[in-house]
Amino acid sequence: MLPAFAANPAAQLTGGGLPMDFGRVGRDGARLLGDGKTWRGLLGGVLGGLLVGGLQVAVAASADNPSAVPTFDPGGGKASAASLFVVFALALGALLGDAVKSYAKRRLGKGRGAKFQLADQYDFVLGAWVLTAAVFPAWFRENFSVEAMVVVVAVTFFLHRGVSVLGHRMGLKAEPW
Ligand code: CTP
Ligand code: MG
Repeated sequence: MLPAFAANPAAQLTGGGLPMDFGRVGRDGARLLGDGKTWRGLLGGVLGGLLVGGLQVAVAASADNPSAVPTFDPGGGKASAASLFVVFALALGALLGDAVKSYAKRRLGKGRGAKFQLADQYDFVLGAWVLTAAVFPAWFRENFSVEAMVVVVAVTFFLHRGVSVLGHRMGLKAEPW
C-alpha cells in the first residue's frame, strides 16, 4: 500500500495550476471535480508513489531473502522492471479514486475541502485496489488477503488522521481532515 499512501501527500505538495476538469461545470452548475484536483497534483502524486514504490522494488531486488519483502512483480516473481507497473497502478489508482470522490462531492453540492466522512479516508484505498485488481488480478489476489485488507483499513484510519492534521499544521491543507 505504500505507493498508494505516498501518492496523496505527494499530490498535495506538488498540486496547483491547471485543474483536471479544465474548469468545466456539470449540468447541476457545480464544477466537475473542482480546483483541488490538478494535473500537476496528478503527475506529482504518481511520481511520489513511483519514488516510494521504486525504492521498495530496489530493496526487494537486492534482498538476501526475496520472500521477506514484497517484490511487486505482477507474476509473483522477483522484483523487476515490470514491478514498476504495479507500483504505477497503485499510485494512479489512489489518485483516480480521490478524483472520483471529488466528482461525487461536487454532485452532492459539497464544496472543495468540505468534509465527506469515510470517502475522504478511503477513496484512495479503494481506487488503488480497484485499479490494481482490474489490471493485475493475480498480483492483487496474492498480496491482499482479507486479513491484509482489514489491516489496511485500520491503519488507514489513523494514518489519514495523523497526516491530515500534520498537513494542516504545515499550512498545506486548509482543513485538518
Ligand atoms: N491535489 C491536486 N491534484 C490532485 C489531488 C490533490 O492538486 N489530483 C492537491 C490540491 O492542492 C488539493 C490538495 O492536494 O487541494 C488536497 O487534496 P484533497 O484533500 O484531495 O482535495 P480538496 O482540496 O480537499 O478537494 P476535494 O473537496 O475535491 O477533495
Ligand atoms: Mg480534502
